[in-house]
Amino acid sequence: MNKIVPQNSFKIIARALSVHYGEKQALHQVDLDIRAGEVTALIGPSGCGKSTFLRCINRMNDLVDGARVSGSLTLDGQDIYDPAVDVVQLRARVGMVFQKPNPFPKSIYDNVAYGPRIHGMARDQAELDAIVNGSLEKAGLWAEVKDRLADSGTSLSGGQQQRLCIARAIAVEPELILMDEPCSALDPIATAKVEELIDELRENYTIVMVTHSMQQAARVSQRTAFFHMGKLIEVGDTEQVFTNPREPLTQGYITGRFG
Ligand SMILES: Nc1ncnc2c1ncn2[C@@H]1O[C@H](COP(=O)(O)OP(=O)(O)OP(=O)(O)O)[C@@H](O)[C@H]1O
Ligand SMILES: [Mg+2]
Repeated sequence: MNKIVPQNSFKIIARALSVHYGEKQALHQVDLDIRAGEVTALIGPSGCGKSTFLRCINRMNDLVDGARVSGSLTLDGQDIYDPAVDVVQLRARVGMVFQKPNPFPKSIYDNVAYGPRIHGMARDQAELDAIVNGSLEKAGLWAEVKDRLADSGTSLSGGQQQRLCIARAIAVEPELILMDEPCSALDPIATAKVEELIDELRENYTIVMVTHSMQQAARVSQRTAFFHMGKLIEVGDTEQVFTNPREPLTQGYITGRFG
């Protein structure tokens, strides 16, 4: 389960990626490369298209009536929008963690076992136990829940629930994890734990994370992409984007002059 991702290869390549919701264009001709084994932060004012970009990667926009995606988007060189792509398989390769922790109304154990069961990843109970325990361990939750695996996932605190959702996402061994403001419902202590976890996970996974917190982007990401009104304005190493942005729009946003 501990695959080390090769650094500096591109996991995701977007070229001229546009998204329309009905008449409204939410993303304009975005060219963006996501490197393997790194955390890429997507930042920008509300409504600029961050979640829309994220949802293209696991084809969640397929579920939105009137949404149209054009341009090209590849995962390891394979076209994500090729009609031959099995969306269930794609979503197993591309996990997602949402803003609001959303554990299933099931036990802690079953939350994590859900995906591995569906994908037939365990041959017997012992293997399933190993996957569940290992995922909880990696999500930094094992010590807190090992004596209460049969309790409902919803009985956990918000921060624990979010780590449970991360455990659920990694249980199916995705290659890429999308996180849409994963800490926005958490207090600072829970946020710090999740940030630490994201930093650890990047050794084995590629992570794309939307955040409204510039501090968070600076703390956990290696690359930062700044969006504004559906356009990708600037992407670069996080340190460069925050200390020496090339674009005035980026400068304005990170210094809090607008957004
Ligand atoms: N399901 C939808 N139907 C119609 N328009 C949508 C839909 N989802 C998003 N949009 C529009 O697309 C644009 C981009 O939205 P998106 O959710 O990607 O922004 P965001 O950058 O994630 O914003 P926030 O920071 O507030 O989450 C916005 O103008 C939004 O109103
Ligand atoms: Mg959003």
